[in-house]
Amino acid sequence: MAVGLQIAIDGPASAGKSTVAKLVAKQLHYTYCDTGAMYRSITWAAMQHGLRLTDEVAVVALLDKSTIRFEPGEVEQRVFFNETEVTAAIRQPDVTNNVSTIAALGGVRQKLVQLQHQIAAVGNIVMDGRDIGTAVLPNAEVKIFLVASVSERATRRYKENLTKGINTPLAVLKQEIELRDKKDSTRKISPLVQAKDAVLVDTTSLNIDQVVARIIRIVQEKEKDHNK
Ligand code: CDP
Ligand code: CDP
Repeated sequence: MAVGLQIAIDGPASAGKSTVAKLVAKQLHYTYCDTGAMYRSITWAAMQHGLRLTDEVAVVALLDKSTIRFEPGEVEQRVFFNETEVTAAIRQPDVTNNVSTIAALGGVRQKLVQLQHQIAAVGNIVMDGRDIGTAVLPNAEVKIFLVASVSERATRRYKENLTKGINTPLAVLKQEIELRDKKDSTRKISPLVQAKDAVLVDTTSLNIDQVVARIIRIVQEKEKDHNK
């Protein structure tokens, strides 16, 4: 029996998962866990080591002897791979475009899910990713499947990239997002799919505050049931 409430937020790339998950966690004083940052970190490290990204044995061996950890930061959570801060590096386009290949490796998923379970054991948790409601926290009391049209998601990523000095054309971003969604949805292990008991929230025409408010309402309803 889990301690406290578990909130699982899944969905395709750039649907707003991490932005809203962070705000929901802050508002509720819950712990936030960005599982995408874990897959991104091992992808970054495998690339640094020049590993073949489909070489499961080599990538798992690297993960086995490494640590991935989060630290609170002023603006965003800081991510460390061993002692190296990778917060910015893991958001670079080369990592983004390779992460789905690493995320398809069963051994990598097994290790990272173990780490996710350790983090979730603290109690009230908001966790976002692709397989949280289906595989990582299948008993989560609140499951949200966040979507938006691909054009809207590409536009959001485009605007976000500009603030980081990255200027990938919108049409290219759209293609990259579609390709990553396809890889994530069609992989054999824990593919991106809406859990049967997840609430679908289409954010195409909703701003961040509206999405957060909607999720908080869903959580409050569950909290009432939970405390009965
Ligand atoms: O923020 P964005 O939607 O671009 O991606 P992310 O959440 O940082 O996740 C990056 C990639 O990690 C995804 O495209 C998936 O390939 C993988 N991932 C996964 O397989 N399972 C998760 N629970 C989280 C991420
Ligand atoms: O984690 P995920 O890839 O699903 O998306 P994200 O990184 O949280 O959000 C991608 C971008 O969309 C960020 O720049 C958010 O500020 C923006 N966003 C938005 O404009 N409207 C929303 N309703 C949600 C996110």
